[in-house]
Amino acid sequence: MTVPPASFPVFEQVLRRNAGLKFSPEKSYLLTARLSDIMAREGCATLDALAERLVNAPHRHVLERHVVEAMLNHESFFFRDRTPFTELEATVYPGLRGARAARRHLSIWSAACAGGQEPYSLAMQLIEQQADWQGWRIDLLASDISHAAVIRAEKGEYSQFEVQRGLSIHRLLRHFTQDADKWIVSKEVRDSIRFERRSLLQPPPAAPGRTGKFDIIFARNVLMYLAAEEKAQAIQMLRRALADDGVLIIGAAETLFGYADLFVQHPACRGFYAPVLGDAPSAVEIPPSGELNEKERAEAVFLRAPPATH
Ligand SMILES: C[S@@+](CC[C@H](N)C(=O)[O-])C[C@H]1O[C@@H](n2cnc3c(N)ncnc32)[C@H](O)[C@@H]1O
Repeated sequence: MTVPPASFPVFEQVLRRNAGLKFSPEKSYLLTARLSDIMAREGCATLDALAERLVNAPHRHVLERHVVEAMLNHESFFFRDRTPFTELEATVYPGLRGARAARRHLSIWSAACAGGQEPYSLAMQLIEQQADWQGWRIDLLASDISHAAVIRAEKGEYSQFEVQRGLSIHRLLRHFTQDADKWIVSKEVRDSIRFERRSLLQPPPAAPGRTGKFDIIFARNVLMYLAAEEKAQAIQMLRRALADDGVLIIGAAETLFGYADLFVQHPACRGFYAPVLGDAPSAVEIPPSGELNEKERAEAVFLRAPPATH
């Protein structure tokens, strides 16, 4: 195991203060791996020397931003985990098409979009289902705390290796053009997304439209990196951003355990959560717990579909 540098607490605090990230001593090998360019630029031979600059240098605020950028993990790929996308198609979209039939407006937010693979996957899928969405307005927001990631996502250029991760040949040829060793996402797909730099620790963005709430929020593989307090803050923010009958989708390896007052897990779709309504009015009356088993109750809450009659 790498021995953490004496200055470990400085790095821990910088990451937490700027992005809410938790950082444990066992991960300190990442400091050397990811900060070597910055150390070379700053002429720092050791992590302790860099930490000293983070505390005392006149440009410490700029340096902090660079350190946080370098430490963020942007691992992502197209149609990651598959199931969320098939579940959207099978359950969530048909439900929302019914629930929003009068308004014909859908707002989706990819809240930690990394290099753009997640929002582009959503956009491609929606374009492929165009026939089901005739006459609808669909707004897609993609955001990330990382400036570099948002710029990259907005550019929509990927290597051969990246497009091979998750994209079928059919989708690649339909939605991308090749330029030498790069694959560039089509204008149609790119223009269907609005990109912005935003932290999960900021107040919620307003979704376009009358309600200002999102119908679907993807916040996958990001909450697991946050310290407990910041994770709670982000989950509360996501609840405020989501429509009462909306769906929050987190990563397959994540849970919202401990937040039962805010979200209920859908029994059939791993990683899919519906808001708990509290005092807010619900489109469909949800029977008290005693009258339904756990699965039926969660189904009744999810998408506010009335429970099946037996
Ligand atoms: C591992 S990637 C996940 C990308 C995508 N959601 C997926 O599942 O493939 C995590 C992303 O979360 C972003 N992130 C980390 N902390 C964040 C915060 N406080 N607010 C918003 N984004 C954050 C990182 O910059 C990174 O791009």
